[in-house]
Amino acid sequence: MKELKISLMGMGYVGLITGMAFAKHDFKVVVTDAISSKVEKLASGIPPFYEKNFEENLKDVIERGLLTGSTDNAAAVHDTDVTFICVGTPSRPDGSIDLSYIEAVAKDIGTALKDKKKYHVVVTKSTIVPMTTEKVILPILEEHSGKKVGEDFGLCMNPEFLREGAAVHDALKPDRIVIGQWDKKSGDALIKIYDDFNCPKLRVSIRTAEMIKYTANSFLATKITFANEMANLCERYNIDVYDVMKGVGLDFRISEQFLRAGAGFGGSCFPKDVHALVSSAKSVGVQTQLLDAVLAVNETQPLRLVELAKQAAGGVLKGKEVALLGLAFKPDTDDIRETRAVPILNALVEQGAKVRGYDPEAMENFKAAVDKPMVYAKSAKEALEGADICIIQTEWNEIKELTAEDFKSLMKTPVVVDGRRTFDDPQGIIDAGVKYLGIGWKNE
Ligand code: UDX
Repeated sequence: MKELKISLMGMGYVGLITGMAFAKHDFKVVVTDAISSKVEKLASGIPPFYEKNFEENLKDVIERGLLTGSTDNAAAVHDTDVTFICVGTPSRPDGSIDLSYIEAVAKDIGTALKDKKKYHVVVTKSTIVPMTTEKVILPILEEHSGKKVGEDFGLCMNPEFLREGAAVHDALKPDRIVIGQWDKKSGDALIKIYDDFNCPKLRVSIRTAEMIKYTANSFLATKITFANEMANLCERYNIDVYDVMKGVGLDFRISEQFLRAGAGFGGSCFPKDVHALVSSAKSVGVQTQLLDAVLAVNETQPLRLVELAKQAAGGVLKGKEVALLGLAFKPDTDDIRETRAVPILNALVEQGAKVRGYDPEAMENFKAAVDKPMVYAKSAKEALEGADICIIQTEWNEIKELTAEDFKSLMKTPVVVDGRRTFDDPQGIIDAGVKYLGIGWKNE
């Protein structure tokens, strides 16, 4: 076991997965949370959320005594050398981020540092807009500890780039590590933790690190929206946008990544982070014309699927039975945050369609959060039974495995409206007798 000890505050997605990765690298780790039931469950190896390959890795580090949970933030600071702030930063109605959890743990850390003799480094990992570490977290730390940054304690910002569904891989084998440091001493402590992580490591100022996270997510969201706009145009020319993007993505300056046109981006990061950056820009008097457009296109894009469904139904959706396949914001997760299935369902219901939805993992979450009328099917095939139209919102494997035969034998009329280019060979499905329409497909 390595000498340096780590605490992480916040037993959410970022705190637990990052903590597990540090423990895998042989550090002794404590993860804290204010909710005691989460801590109790963790002791028996039960994670509070689903993530691929996570449970077995978590159990392993718990059994080896490398990772423990606690509700005691002060003890966690006292017993460790570096503390990561990993609490949530939920969106406010105006798009800005709510810092109340951040402020509460900063206060706890500051108070605990008051009577700690040894040098300690505080690291922000939560996603916060530029200047938040310096303008919000630092004053709280100094006020409650009575100590001075750079002399008595260190301060860093270390953004996370975890993708849901691949977060365990991303935490163990990141493609880069960004260290925003108050001073060299703070950064040196953090770089020690990442010593045996084999990837480029970038040392920058704290506000630069904060900005890198938002810029990366805003750019990826922009790439998706760009592909979506090209898709809508390609449809009018009867061109397959996926062929176009293959040709475009082969340019190494562009790359094929995040050019998959579809129903738009959802999830816990892209919509929230772009909104937060726009709101932060506004607060400092900067106009964000491009990012405003990225968000606007993302609102109208899912409705394109409803337009295509309407077109296939001869102009009227009222009374039509629609199978809505895929409710999660992307495959391999039960997360429905900002899923494009919600605007699709709303528009279908508004137009009088009867919707039967299905998702392999996300139905419980969807049921709990969405109150629009929808019947829930037990399988993709059950959702298709007797349907007039099938709309695909998430490209789950179970949905990819559906064949032209399934659509023909189960549906009243075999019409598929694909929001995620789910099938490798749409032309094959068309040739087998299915009416196939899709985002960026040759729909004319
Ligand atoms: C994202 C970032 O990738 C990650 O680095 C960051 O830390 C958190 O946000 P995540 O939200 O888990 O990760 O999912 P991602 O795979 O990036 O997809 C986000 C959304 O964009 C999904 O709704 C997905 O369907 C959509 N998407 C993605 C597209 O529509 N087209 C693409 O080409 C890629």
